[in-house]
Amino acid sequence: MKKVYLETFGCQMNVSDSERVATALSSRGFEMTGREDQADIVLINTCSVREKAEQKLYTRVGEIRKGRIHKPIVGVLGCVAQLEGETLFRKIEGIDAIVGTRAVGRISEVIGRVLDGEDEVTDLGERERDYDWSVTDEQRHSPHVAFVPIIEGCNKFCTYCIVPFSRGREISLSASAIIRNVLELKRSGVREVHLIGQNVNSYRPESDSGLEAFSGKTPFSRLLRAVAATGIERIKFNTSFPRDFHADIVDAIEENENLCNWVHLPVQSGSDRILRMMKRGHSVDKYLKKIDRIATSERDIAVTTDIIVGFPGETEDDFQGTVDLVNTVKYDAAYIFKYSARPGTPAYEMDDDVTPETKTRRFLELQEHQRGIQKARLRRYVGQVLKVLVEKPAARFDHQVSGHSTCHKVVNFEGPANLIGQIVDVRVTEVKSNSLFGQHMSPGLPLS
Ligand code: 5AD
Ligand code: SF4
Repeated sequence: MKKVYLETFGCQMNVSDSERVATALSSRGFEMTGREDQADIVLINTCSVREKAEQKLYTRVGEIRKGRIHKPIVGVLGCVAQLEGETLFRKIEGIDAIVGTRAVGRISEVIGRVLDGEDEVTDLGERERDYDWSVTDEQRHSPHVAFVPIIEGCNKFCTYCIVPFSRGREISLSASAIIRNVLELKRSGVREVHLIGQNVNSYRPESDSGLEAFSGKTPFSRLLRAVAATGIERIKFNTSFPRDFHADIVDAIEENENLCNWVHLPVQSGSDRILRMMKRGHSVDKYLKKIDRIATSERDIAVTTDIIVGFPGETEDDFQGTVDLVNTVKYDAAYIFKYSARPGTPAYEMDDDVTPETKTRRFLELQEHQRGIQKARLRRYVGQVLKVLVEKPAARFDHQVSGHSTCHKVVNFEGPANLIGQIVDVRVTEVKSNSLFGQHMSPGLPLS
């Protein structure tokens, strides 16, 4: 039996693709292994959103092959594979197969061809019409939490972003297939699903099938209601695109306890001038109106965001706009990135004129602001009782377990490992820099 080691970089969509790759391979007689040194086949699922993706891959392939007498078969999957295609064979020694973002369903065939002796096998084709979106319990990243893709690709073409090129146009999965998937996950004991996609709220399926009984102004809010009706205990969704974020999403959350208290709404910049150059399709004002609906909700909804500093032409004034916006919104968390020019994107043609030093300074300054805000946001939970889905033993402390609240905060507390997989009440007692610490309310007696 050939052993496969699969390594994944990047977003949840890549994690989810990898889960299905592992599912497909194990059903076709391959054995998945966590040991790279014992693998006959090493697959790398790549990300190209930031940094020197190709350079990283080059180093990684070198490391994998170094010191191995029998060199493993190396396959490159995902965004770098899709963007670079066959040129990777020339650029990096030791690659045997290249599989694009929508071709992962044919991974077993591709590996089969390599094993049959074919050199340099490439598949950058489209998804099969009958592509199987399900994942077996064994191959899921967690027994308790599942990623459920609802839309793939992106039509937005923000000027800095490579995703529309690496993942193609938006295609929404049918609501009936999504519901079926969620019901199956519920049956097999999954307690939380994350509906995932580059822009989940741009969800627009070809037909109404599965949504007939659910109201809402947009197909996404109808889908949220439909998934809530499955009775699965917790539903989270990300990422949301600001222009397509409407009040009906918050309405759906308010109506359904199992729609969790968390919205991830990337703003990218607090300057209208930069937002226009990024072609984001929203102004600061319009964005703040959407935030207002969330902030004034009867539910205590946590808001997180993504921000890029140092976009071409970003002045101190523009940056100050971002700092002001962060101070106004008071995000629960912000993922801050230094702008990184991606070949093939429109912004790549712009003058990358903010120096690396300035990018770093702005990054650190914004991070410092956010840290203070985050601490204050976390502090408001002290004394509150949160429902925590316990997912694993805490990383650094014995006798502690770790999970997430419905507001998607990491919560650690003293407790036995047999709580893993349960949803329990935890009273928050302490704030750490990126997490909460608390006390289990009913030791030994899970309240699920
Ligand atoms: N440079 C820096 N950050 C980027 N992102 C996307 N493209 C780039 C880029 N070229 C960030 C955005 C996006 C997140 C997933 O990655 O903030 O929301
Ligand atoms: Fe990239 Fe913009 Fe699409 Fe997000 S919405 S994936 S930032 S192009």
